Amino acid sequence: MTFRKDFLWGGATAANQFEGAWNIDGKGPSCSDMCTGGSHTKSKRITREIEEGTFYPSHEAIDFYHRYKEDIALFAEMGFKVFRFSIGWSRIFPNGDDAIPNELGLKFYENVIDECLKYGIEPLITISHYEVPFALTQKYNGWASREMIDIFTRYCEVIFKRYKGKVKYWLTFNEINSATMPMGGFLSQGILNEGTTDFTNQVDIPQLRFQGLHHQFVASAKAVKLAHEIDPNYKVGCMILYATTYPYTCNPNDVIEAQKQNRIMNYFCGDVQVGGEYPTYMNRYFKENNITIKMEDGDLKTLKEGCVDFYTFSYYMSTCATTNKEVANSSGNILGGAKNPYLKASDWGWQIDPKGLRYSLNEIYDRYQIPLMVVENGLGAYDKKEADGSVNDDYRIDYLRAHIEQMKEAVEDGVDLIGYTPWGCIDLVSASTGEMAKRYGFIYVDKYDDGSGDLSRSRKKSFYWYKKVIESNGEVL
Ligand code: BG6
Repeated sequence: MTFRKDFLWGGATAANQFEGAWNIDGKGPSCSDMCTGGSHTKSKRITREIEEGTFYPSHEAIDFYHRYKEDIALFAEMGFKVFRFSIGWSRIFPNGDDAIPNELGLKFYENVIDECLKYGIEPLITISHYEVPFALTQKYNGWASREMIDIFTRYCEVIFKRYKGKVKYWLTFNEINSATMPMGGFLSQGILNEGTTDFTNQVDIPQLRFQGLHHQFVASAKAVKLAHEIDPNYKVGCMILYATTYPYTCNPNDVIEAQKQNRIMNYFCGDVQVGGEYPTYMNRYFKENNITIKMEDGDLKTLKEGCVDFYTFSYYMSTCATTNKEVANSSGNILGGAKNPYLKASDWGWQIDPKGLRYSLNEIYDRYQIPLMVVENGLGAYDKKEADGSVNDDYRIDYLRAHIEQMKEAVEDGVDLIGYTPWGCIDLVSASTGEMAKRYGFIYVDKYDDGSGDLSRSRKKSFYWYKKVIESNGEVL
């Protein structure tokens, strides 16, 4: 067998994209609760108040909050060994900085964890996945403020203590490096600058984003240290949005451009979180972009003391870099790039590149030499539910099969890969566009972009396929 015997097969989700119950049982609004629906061609809007009559996709989402037992039973039926989900920060601290955590929120996640454990499913918990409490945006402009470090550490302390003995794997920030791009400002850091109304076209202040990243690095390192003190069995990982960037041509200009982009986008955050120090290549970037990182005494020591135990990343696509302005662009989640003539793209324009996953796994492992996990991967596609209720999503099976084949190659190449959790194992709301129409799941959810649907769940063709993949530990694809 190629994959290790205890390989963690499973699926991934995020609270704001599937729980719903946005204001129930004491939960406060998160940044994502302030985003309206959008589409591939129309940006989501960020509203500062909830507007009557406007549709907010996260408010009901797919109502995992009330259906978690049914959903986890379906994951168990597929044979999941691990389930990646996030804790809605504002479900625990409605205003982010409350003196006392919300017991009903803590209890909900305890129930979810217990339900997983009942089936022998290992919980893999993202502590902050694109859902900064909105009150922290209003009060501090999110991660732009240093106060966030203590607020986050307190949140970590509460959940680390509460779930001790039940959970082993934690991730501090989802796709922390998304904040190297303008869209990550609000999405990931809760930074909302005056004048911003469009989610995809935010008023961007790079200085705030990179200062915010410094605060997140320090907070993440403190969380790692704290986790190990509270429970030495805890393993804490980083989570990087990894989109490998090839030079568009072998013109050295393109090669240098690709190296630059890979460093800023793909490596900067991992280098800090795994290695515990700022890479020297950032000095030039900061200088050329007029960015000054304000640090306090002890920050660098904290970074060094809080290196992560394992490295996780999302992988959907690759892109190309060129200095030639004439080359056509491709689209992506948070970043685009030059169009690769050798690749096909999804309906949302994301370039499909399974071999890029093998390449990325090797590049990352060569660099860090710690266990790796692919915690997001998948195809966002339009699904058609047939009259008999079936969904024949062969395109999704093809996509996942091709990526798993390349993961095998990487393992043969020597990479220490410990798990795989495809994204949106159950249909959920898209992070970039707010759509339900962009589906990733093995499980179909009857919910549509106008808010209609009875929320019933049904198994797609890929459900039965993935079950066999897990049963055979990746041998039957
Ligand atoms: C990742 C995020 O960027 O990609 C998820 O961590 C997100 O939250 C996923 O849903 C897929 O992106 P999208 O925009 O298709 O939902």
